[in-house]
Amino acid sequence: MTAKIIDGVAVAKKIRDDCRGRVQRIVAQSGTRPGLAVIIVGSDPASQIYVRNKIRACANVGIESLRFDYPADVNQDAVIDRITRLNDDPAVHGILVQLPLPPSFDMARILHSISADKDVDGFHLYNVGGLVVGGTVFPPCTPYGVLKLLEHEHIALEGRNVVVVGASNIVGKPMALMLMQHEATVSICHAKTRDLAQFTILADILVVAAGYPNLIQPEMVRTGAVVIDVGINRLGDGRLVGDVNFDGVAAKASYITPVPGGVGPMTVSMLLVNTITSCERWQQQTFVPIFSKFPARVTK
Ligand code: GUN
Repeated sequence: MTAKIIDGVAVAKKIRDDCRGRVQRIVAQSGTRPGLAVIIVGSDPASQIYVRNKIRACANVGIESLRFDYPADVNQDAVIDRITRLNDDPAVHGILVQLPLPPSFDMARILHSISADKDVDGFHLYNVGGLVVGGTVFPPCTPYGVLKLLEHEHIALEGRNVVVVGASNIVGKPMALMLMQHEATVSICHAKTRDLAQFTILADILVVAAGYPNLIQPEMVRTGAVVIDVGINRLGDGRLVGDVNFDGVAAKASYITPVPGGVGPMTVSMLLVNTITSCERWQQQTFVPIFSKFPARVTK
């Protein structure tokens, strides 16, 4: 078997074309343009590239973006003050703090200071809770992108064995919850899982987000499985690779995502979708803030 390569660039482009139309409709109907504020702290090279891509993608579909750069040694209260002002700014419909933050930062405090109504990353506790009970407004962008890829390929989830490798708050955990919502049978593996292969071999659909190049080898994958590689690893020679031995696994799987060009472009497209959805919510006459009563700041 040779896998069909899922073209994330093409699917992401379709979604962006749709986003452009939605933005035009909002502007025509209300005179308001969706706005996204992006905050980056420090000079992590990968984060700089991700943020640049997000800002470019906004411009590409007509979303207004505001970028705020802070040095790694900034006092975190200055960042929280900025977020508080953005929470109150009617021109801003989405707020994103690029992760990771410098180790001295209290990440939870920063993320929970973002209004749940503008939390287009879906990292606020309210939106995480929404994910658990199946009613989130802002699904986290990377797992949301994975679901869109599966949907595009008409890959059913109901009753399928799905194994998620990686249990991060950004990808693995929300991915598992979203798959459960679609009635898949979900197993989550992580860094402490013994004999990873005994789980991965059972997967009809294998989603890998562990951050280790070549973690998944062909003998760990069932013939005909769907393999989604969320990993992005920079090798010593500069090459960008995922977590899956692509050539070996592609010979055995039915579908596979490449790196680059698979899940990566989808993450950015789903951020645009969430930002536009947020703007549309704010435009609705019936809009009730989802989270006005919870304390904005969570202390240690
Ligand atoms: N760092 C890696 N992925 C993400 C993401 O989806 N959102 C944010 N804010 N930071 C990230």
